[in-house]
Amino acid sequence: MVSLILCFFFSFLALFLLHRMFKSSSNSAMKKLPLPPGTIGWPYIGETFQLYSQNPNVFFTSKQKRYGSIFKTHILGCPCVMVSSPEAAKFVLVTKSHLFKPTFPASKERMLGRQALFFHQGDYHSKLRKLVLRAFMPEAIKNIVSQVDNLAVHSLQSWDGQLINTFQEMKTYAFNVALMSIFGKDEILYREELKRCYYVLERGYNSMPINLPGTLFNKSMKARKELAQILARILSTRRQRKEETTDLLGSFMGDGEGLTDEQIADNVIGVIFAARDTTASVLTWIVKYLGENPSILQAVTEEQQSISGGDKLLNWADIKNMPITSRVIQETLRVASILSFTFREAVEDVEYEGYLIPKGWKVLPLFRNIHHSADIFPDPEKFDPSRFEVAPKPNTYMPFGNGTHACPGNELAKLEILVLLHHLTTKYRWSMVGPQTSIQYGPFALPQNGLPIRLSRKT
Ligand code: HEM
Repeated sequence: MVSLILCFFFSFLALFLLHRMFKSSSNSAMKKLPLPPGTIGWPYIGETFQLYSQNPNVFFTSKQKRYGSIFKTHILGCPCVMVSSPEAAKFVLVTKSHLFKPTFPASKERMLGRQALFFHQGDYHSKLRKLVLRAFMPEAIKNIVSQVDNLAVHSLQSWDGQLINTFQEMKTYAFNVALMSIFGKDEILYREELKRCYYVLERGYNSMPINLPGTLFNKSMKARKELAQILARILSTRRQRKEETTDLLGSFMGDGEGLTDEQIADNVIGVIFAARDTTASVLTWIVKYLGENPSILQAVTEEQQSISGGDKLLNWADIKNMPITSRVIQETLRVASILSFTFREAVEDVEYEGYLIPKGWKVLPLFRNIHHSADIFPDPEKFDPSRFEVAPKPNTYMPFGNGTHACPGNELAKLEILVLLHHLTTKYRWSMVGPQTSIQYGPFALPQNGLPIRLSRKT
């Protein structure tokens, strides 16, 4: 018996040592691999100035031209590897996603809430993602088309005859849709309170993370606390009523989900953050592109007029019957590529195509470079929705990301854009005011000054 145990022990030891030897020899082989080509600039500041002194896309594109589709740089205090081929983006986001974790500055995590799904990997992330998808999949959102319709009609009515900042107004619309999809009908009661706190929170989002009385960051953190308190009140009222709902809050509170109030609050705030400026930027770009392309606007208007049945509210079947307008959205997402890239961090040394991506380095898949590659999308700067009459090749079109963290709100985003475009094109005309040549980044790409337009009802 003793000899059997000893035999087992030594076999185990031998296997363990072999594994260590193999691992350390493969680690040292990995360490010998070259880093991707590129430059890392000055100590600590790296190439941050080069990135921000020009349009960031010019920086990425000139690097790609010089070094190819994988290159290194150093920005915002971090060594980075940037990748701009569909294959490399798939490697980072899909096939080897476990080797690349999402990464955000600590101050942003604190502000939005550390337990929000986009900061996580593994079981906690999968569980939350399932709950978010449950509330935003077509089966769930087909029931809220008429409510989105009402919000779009009211927004447009309030802009009638006015000179508006398109982005600011679209933010209000997208915010209202997000609240409705999160809280259902409860939203009306809390809308103004939630809005007031959220606006203070977002003002501090890009501020210096100095938590001293009077700083923007400090005000933001207080607003964050107040938001969590409002959410706790909503949760407590719902628990007393014991009513089941299909909105996002209902999905988070569902039987057996076992989420704490804090986890729910972090994720509600996170979803509002992910849902609002993204959708509002895309809507702003669509208004610009339609304004600049009268024949495309005409085609969209005719499609929408064929759907419109007088003043009846839209339904899900109508939404699924808008191919021309849907292609306009697809092409806008490609040309504007409002999320030019995303951030990941290598959790261990990784080899890609003979290069070393060292542990701890940031890895940035450059969506915009892929969407603007002439090999994938011929004449890439041209706004041409008809190119989407043929589906793009896999992994070449990622406006909503790809893989484990791909956008769970994409169906809702498309729904709210289609509904607004329906009413905008059938009932209103608009003209752009002021110069429309430059792009601002805040952080999403946006037409200059948020695209001021004058809008009026068609006679
Ligand atoms: C046109 C509008 C939108 C665009 C272009 C967009 C784009 C994206 C992209 C590219 C990602 C992946 C980021 C990454 O991999 O790092 C993402 C993630 C996410 N989006 Fe969206 N999004 C939009 C609207 C929305 C809406 C309306 C919602 C919610 C209702 C939403 C909720 C989220 C969430 C929660 C995540 C994180 C998912 C995860 O980490 O698993 N987004 N979005």
